[in-house]
Amino acid sequence: GKDKATGKCPVMHGAMTAAGVSNTSWWPNALNLDILHQHDTKGNPLNGFDYRAAVKGLDVAALRADLHALMTDSQPWWPADWGHYGGLMIRMAWHAAGSYRAADGRGGGNTGNQRFAPLNSWPDNVSLDKARRLLWPIKKKYGNAVSWADLILFAGTVAYESMGLKTFGFGFGREDIWAPEKDVYWGAEKDWLAPSDGRYGDLAKPETMENPLAAVQMGLIYVNPEGVNGQPDPARTALHIRETFARMGMNDEETVALTAGGHTVGKAHGNGDAKALGPDPEAADVTDQGLGWSNPHMGGKAAQAVTSGIEGAWTTHPTRWDMGYFEMLFGHDWELTKSPAGAWQWKPVTIAEEAKPLDATDLTTRHDPLMTDADMAMKVDPVYNAICQKFMADPAAFDDAFARAWFKLLHRDMGPKARYIGPDVPAEDLIWQDPVPQGPTGWDVAKVKAQIAASGLSVADLVATAWDSARTFRQSDYRGGANGARIRLAPQKDWAGNEPERLARVLAVLEPIAAAAGASVADVIVLAGNLGVEQAAAAAGFALEVPFTPGRGDATAAMTDGPSFDVLEPVHDGFRNWLKADYAVSPEELLLDRAQLMGLTAPEMTVLLGGLRVIGANHGANPQGVFTERPGVLSTDFFVTLTDMGLSWHRVGGGYELRDRATGAVKYGASRVDLVFGSNAILRAYAELYAQDDAAGKFVTDFTAAWVKVMQADRFDLRA
Ligand code: HEM
Repeated sequence: GKDKATGKCPVMHGAMTAAGVSNTSWWPNALNLDILHQHDTKGNPLNGFDYRAAVKGLDVAALRADLHALMTDSQPWWPADWGHYGGLMIRMAWHAAGSYRAADGRGGGNTGNQRFAPLNSWPDNVSLDKARRLLWPIKKKYGNAVSWADLILFAGTVAYESMGLKTFGFGFGREDIWAPEKDVYWGAEKDWLAPSDGRYGDLAKPETMENPLAAVQMGLIYVNPEGVNGQPDPARTALHIRETFARMGMNDEETVALTAGGHTVGKAHGNGDAKALGPDPEAADVTDQGLGWSNPHMGGKAAQAVTSGIEGAWTTHPTRWDMGYFEMLFGHDWELTKSPAGAWQWKPVTIAEEAKPLDATDLTTRHDPLMTDADMAMKVDPVYNAICQKFMADPAAFDDAFARAWFKLLHRDMGPKARYIGPDVPAEDLIWQDPVPQGPTGWDVAKVKAQIAASGLSVADLVATAWDSARTFRQSDYRGGANGARIRLAPQKDWAGNEPERLARVLAVLEPIAAAAGASVADVIVLAGNLGVEQAAAAAGFALEVPFTPGRGDATAAMTDGPSFDVLEPVHDGFRNWLKADYAVSPEELLLDRAQLMGLTAPEMTVLLGGLRVIGANHGANPQGVFTERPGVLSTDFFVTLTDMGLSWHRVGGGYELRDRATGAVKYGASRVDLVFGSNAILRAYAELYAQDDAAGKFVTDFTAAWVKVMQADRFDLRA
């Protein structure tokens, strides 16, 4: 903005965000370390506030009562269909939770990210701005005692209760973020709802969808309701539903229960011209105050709302939890039609007048019900159809299956049960919670440590095994980690990244020690790693004791849903200089991704990597990046060597070499991951810090702190 009179800009150019050209636009291929430093404390006005402690004081009964009242308190600025907001609140909660994908654990409802771009403006989230705004008076009233993340999901749950479903329970404890996430890859497309084809190897094979994505098009939660790329074909849509729901960890029965139970209530909105809607919330005018998609024709009538463009209700009584969805879908034949907004949908060939749902505003009029292509898939696909038949024959089984699937949907990214808070937490253990029993604490740590020290295991063995046990942790959905010692079990014990033979050899030593001491294997694996770090530090001249807190438990195979752990397999680990295969994504980006999932900062990533190299913890004794003449010593040699101008750097075949600049003699082999700590300007700044002559003590201290953070990342039992 230039001042009209002087031609000068009153603020620094770039303060206006749209005008700024940033480093990421100048150099789009540079590593984006920002993903490690999101949700900075400076942007958090509640910095230091312990939400998980605060929500324990929440008056859940009062909140539930207020939400019940809200459901039927229709507001003139966004009138409720049939005077009940239940459908809208449920769709809001489902779209919050439903962005979760199992592959990397990102997305989902556990951060309140639906308040921010891009999700607040996704084409699939039209009108959910209204749902959240309707909740504002309640958020205002309860303040910091309930987060948006918890409130959004609880509102959907209470909506079901208000319509007659007996829900399975609810756990609070999701802390809000205050700015959009930077780590979630939603796809490469530049246009909303760009055709699906770009994300698939072959669109006819839904399993070829690009990982970790779990939606068929940019801006959708799952599938396109009109059909693949908008072309109705329920059998084809069924295949895409199966893949997208599997990618959030849902099987066929859960998928049918969720879709049927979802569309037992509420309606689709397309009674008007979708093109007449105003811009989405992120692009809307300042006078829209964060709301988007303004509808010039609604005139205070819910029945004229336009959301998806599809129009109508699925059941005769859309504000009741009942078997109406199945009765409608299976009680009629359906034919293709178009909504008033021009969207493909299905209508009954014939239907009795009294079976039609009422108009959402004028309760003296009735309209045809609808089915989307996805609903028709429940009938057309033989597997889904059989599950529908089972539910129709046994409504109680449907109620139970839906209540459980809804609970799973909302809690899938919350981690173990120890993280759930509140009076409605169900007692039952569920396999998808990756249960871990509380482990013993009264055993003799010093004695066990001495036994490990005398066992003949090398520092590299001790450190690599503990690292492998802990590194599966991901802060995205709180899965993985050292607790439970699932590294002993299938499938983890056989993962190539875990060096199965070495692992078996190390476990054969550690397991008897744990058994004799009455300790868990999970604890002894970590203690062994700590001992390795202490020995490596001692060799560098630093006597230290790595903090250790016992109490990890050992999970059994019966407590482990093996296939659900496949997504946790580390197919790359830059910390151990390992790649399972050659990937399209560069090794250094993969390292960043793992570091982000592990919850590490860039300095922590740097110090850990440099330390693990010199300790000798590389996968398969890969010599790349072991820039030291004294492996096993926790020295700063990795950084000193990398920044040594006496060396030169060369690409050789698929790898790299460091050579003596004067003689040309090869000194060390290296990977891209090693060299990036010298080439990337930010990582180089950290590398130089640790290469300085004054760095040895700080290096050991920082390495140990980061190590302990990794080993304890999943100790929710200590923080409950
Ligand atoms: C509404 C599609 C699964 C709950 C809608 C609408 C569409 C749609 C197009 C209309 C939105 C509007 O115009 O207002 C789909 C597709 C699904 C799916 C393609 C995947 C197979 C689910 C699931 C749930 C759910 C799993 C919850 C468990 C709802 C509810 C509404 C709705 C409650 C009504 C919203 C209202 O009354 O305002 N869905 N849906 N849907 N959906 Fe789904």
